[in-house]
Amino acid sequence: MTSEAHGGRPEPVPGEPGPTLYDAVGGMPFFERLVDRFYEGVAADPVLLRLYPEPDDLAGARRRLTLFLAQYWGGATTYSDERGHPRLRARHFPFVIGPTERDRWLVHMREAIAHVDPPPAIAARLQAYFEMAAEAMRNQD
Ligand code: HEM
Repeated sequence: MTSEAHGGRPEPVPGEPGPTLYDAVGGMPFFERLVDRFYEGVAADPVLLRLYPEPDDLAGARRRLTLFLAQYWGGATTYSDERGHPRLRARHFPFVIGPTERDRWLVHMREAIAHVDPPPAIAARLQAYFEMAAEAMRNQD
């Protein structure tokens, strides 16, 4: 494999961290496509839409999730530059998130992952993360 396969970065050195997931998926466009598709699902889901402060304009929410995910998986820190420490659980306290909302969220994200169709190992890492994180956001029985 040439260094081009890593987007021009050096070969991974054994014992040192390899390319981030952000790099492996080709950076920002992947997260934009993922979150665009996810929000198409949210926009058509009354159960989720009623939680959103601005249900008629999801552009801000879409941008915040895109930047957060890019940062989380190793991309630029624009999210924290703009919003401060993620504190995601605290930021979700204002929204009633029970098992139904959590599961609807995951349905749309699962569908979005299938749509962008990353390599299976990447899809599995994303899926595991979202399942853990969506449960962490749940604040109702
Ligand atoms: C899987 C884990 C989740 C992640 C990584 C995530 C991520 C985020 C992020 C980054 C924001 C913007 C925070 C900010 O900067 O203000 C946000 C907002 C929001 N999230 Fe989540 N979230 C998750 C789960 C959920 C779930 C399960 C629900 C409800 C079903 C939900 C509903 C909302 C709502 C209503 C907002 C406000 C939209 C806005 O930013 O204007 N989230 N989420």
